[in-house]
Amino acid sequence: MSKYYVTSPIYYPNAQPHLGHAYTTLLCDVLNRFHKSLGEDTYFLTGTDENSEKIIQAAEKLGEGPKEYLEKNVQRFKDLYQLLGIEYDQFIRTSDKEKHWPGAIEMWNRLSEAGDLYKSSYTGLYCVGHEAFLTEKELDENGICPDHGVAPEKIVEENWFFKLSKYASEIQKLIESGELPITPETRKNEVLSFLRSGVEDVSFSRPAEKMTWGVPVPGDDGQKMYVWVDALSNYITALGFGRGEELMDFWPGTHVLGKDILRFHAVFWPAMLLSAKLPLPKQLFVHGTIISDGKKMSKTLGNTISPYEMVERYGKDATRYLLLRHVHPFEDTDITWERLDEWYTAGLVNGLGNLVSRIMKLAETHLDGPVEFLPVGIFEDYEKAFENFDFNHSVNIVWGTIKFLDERITTKEPFKVVKTDLEKGKEIITMVVQDLYLVAHLLESLMPETSATIKTAVRANKKPENLFPRLES
Ligand code: MSP
Repeated sequence: MSKYYVTSPIYYPNAQPHLGHAYTTLLCDVLNRFHKSLGEDTYFLTGTDENSEKIIQAAEKLGEGPKEYLEKNVQRFKDLYQLLGIEYDQFIRTSDKEKHWPGAIEMWNRLSEAGDLYKSSYTGLYCVGHEAFLTEKELDENGICPDHGVAPEKIVEENWFFKLSKYASEIQKLIESGELPITPETRKNEVLSFLRSGVEDVSFSRPAEKMTWGVPVPGDDGQKMYVWVDALSNYITALGFGRGEELMDFWPGTHVLGKDILRFHAVFWPAMLLSAKLPLPKQLFVHGTIISDGKKMSKTLGNTISPYEMVERYGKDATRYLLLRHVHPFEDTDITWERLDEWYTAGLVNGLGNLVSRIMKLAETHLDGPVEFLPVGIFEDYEKAFENFDFNHSVNIVWGTIKFLDERITTKEPFKVVKTDLEKGKEIITMVVQDLYLVAHLLESLMPETSATIKTAVRANKKPENLFPRLES
């Protein structure tokens, strides 16, 4: 049985999860469900990135201990996934000394054995918000980080460096040749131009006295691993790397991520894997950013759309639908509550919801019992859409069938035919019920609960409760 492994980034639990986190993890869930439906042996990993200074700072701000603060926020991620029907196989936490640390240490040892780590003095501008060193060019005219609104800390310290430069041309070739596929093409080109501009070695550790948290560097008590080093290793530590390897045959996997962390995944991580003599990721899929009203969502601007509020307003599967059909998988997408309301009403209340009621009412009234032959199977272009990570297209294909069915009922008028020719009327109804079952089947990965409700209704020949209630106002 072929194996399929999909990962989300591990998120910083330094605040409530937001819509961006929900979106990425939802895409992983859909991919995982889809590959499972193809009969593959699948594994879906998500989790939290906890060895970050940001977390300590956020906890201190609230006067809470980091441990209780982490527990609370990690639970919020898990609760959100449940609300959205996101079913992962493992939730890794990088503060987990049993599951994560041995693999992170093993990774470090491999880099060291390959002769790719050396100690040197470092001067740089560190932005805690990014958990990364920034260049002067990336700051505004006042020396402030534009994304986090604070000046980075000037740091002069002794660090371990990783020979990233040694691997740059090899990675470039692997990306160019498609051996390390990056979707979409725009992101692939972005990485290639970064690689062509010349890559320097990178600092891979911080002095322990400056990092109360974090994985210790083996053999050097004075240093802790830079948070991205242990964070990227999560994709294999979760599979048992460095502690028994029990799930390592799922590697290599498909990484789903936002464009903000592309370089880490397309350059740092492959270089670490090459150095450690491990297979490269199977594929990187890099999606766009969700913005609202033309601006990045922010609490101060008041344009935040929270995933919790979305589920409360529209429901679980409707939220999945809205994100999958209307957030562009490759580019930035602007969403507002007004637009979401319109999309909900058009696609679900007047679209799918209405169709299910119409068909099942006809079936319940005129058929003698449940329809016998229930077709399952998927179209080639539907499968292709998933292969291309074009989630909008996958949903559009299903809605194409919904439109076709709506039109078929309007033109064939089974509600009239049953009055003059009952058998003919039943035949038309049976046909549309079969097609409705196919719609439910196609919805299995996208809207699992709705899919199950429709299938149950067809099998029982009974009109279900209103699937998508009209919005109050
Ligand atoms: N901890 C690192 C990732 C380490 S992975 C080894 C990190 N965490 S994060 O909490 O900042 O999450 C970043 C990710 O969240 C993005 O790459 C993206 O997947 C998702 N999103 C965050 N904001 C987003 C939007 N506004 N829109 C879409 N997704 C975005 O970086």
